[in-house]
Amino acid sequence: MKAIRVRSFGAPEVMRLEEVPDPTPGPGRVLVRLHAAGVNPVDCYLRSGSYPGAPPTPYTPGSDGAGVVERVGAGVGRVVAGDRVYVAASLSGAGTYSELTVCEEQEVFPLPESLSFAQGAAVGVPYATAYRAIFQRARAVPGEAVLVHGASGGVGLAALQLLKAAGLMGLGTVGSPEGRALALSQGASGVFDHRQPGYLEEAVKARGRGFDVILEMLANVNLGRDLKALAPGGRVVVIGSRGDVQITPRDLMGLDASILGMRLPNASAAERASIHAALGAGLANGTLHPVIAREIPLAEAPRAHHDVMEQKALGKIVLVP
Ligand SMILES: NC(=O)c1ccc[n+]([C@@H]2O[C@H](COP(=O)([O-])OP(=O)(O)OC[C@H]3O[C@@H](n4cnc5c(N)ncnc54)[C@H](OP(=O)(O)O)[C@@H]3O)[C@@H](O)[C@H]2O)c1
Repeated sequence: MKAIRVRSFGAPEVMRLEEVPDPTPGPGRVLVRLHAAGVNPVDCYLRSGSYPGAPPTPYTPGSDGAGVVERVGAGVGRVVAGDRVYVAASLSGAGTYSELTVCEEQEVFPLPESLSFAQGAAVGVPYATAYRAIFQRARAVPGEAVLVHGASGGVGLAALQLLKAAGLMGLGTVGSPEGRALALSQGASGVFDHRQPGYLEEAVKARGRGFDVILEMLANVNLGRDLKALAPGGRVVVIGSRGDVQITPRDLMGLDASILGMRLPNASAAERASIHAALGAGLANGTLHPVIAREIPLAEAPRAHHDVMEQKALGKIVLVP
């Protein structure tokens, strides 16, 4: 089979398409023929060598994908050969930027016929992250107002759809007119431009009070100001950050407010099962419908990584074997 391999950490160009042996599924594992692989920012951090937890080289990147079950190992009961599925985690080093991948049975989920493989590849990390941030970390409840930073990206759009489906008010920040239109089309009640000075004050003014929850995709830029945009009892969930930031702790004290960190791999097996049970219901009933920005051939994985880190986000970028 063909797969992208990283032989040494570095720039996107270290990723090369190579011929490697087909994997076989051991007990409790599932072999999936992939039709699309999701590209997440964490894949870029790991490939650059600057992020903890990278597998030893050589390795195949990617944890998200969608395709058809090719074969199952002994003891697998959840899926059978021929099933359409999305996968939400790969085995370490044997990722989804590939024609075939092997996953643990519990990381393989049904993909409804109504969704394309590209959409299936956009579920794993983005939707699970958004769900965990909103419901498991912030414990948001219907009626609350949630500001989604980066509402034009994979996690942000997933968050807007989840909020709408659950009866919460979702507002978003974006950095382009196209992002604004996209966020509004996916359920945002209001959208603000994070390139403009004073946009958070404008968001609070438009709502009439602070936000109950803020989902933060770039904490090193926004966290200090987020704390001034919260309602009493408000929670900021730090999902993404690319550096350090200064905050004023008294902003938290005055509001009984909280800053909550999260990293998706910290979710327990039971929490992951709960997340994907909820996502499966939303995918099946049509309330969740991933937005695809671009489909890029697998061999052009370096271009996909450049785009994820440098282009304005408008949904997910996926690789097609
Ligand atoms: N903690 C975890 O487990 C976890 C899991 C998944 C993702 N993440 C992190 O979450 C972040 C978002 O992931 P993603 O997959 O949604 O990435 P993405 O699709 O590349 O989207 C990035 C988003 O960040 C927005 N952004 C850019 N500048 C911003 C600013 N100054 N303030 C607020 N938002 C800004 C972008 O908006 P424009 O392009 O419109 O400017 C875009 O919507 C990344 O940092 C990622 O590493 C963390």
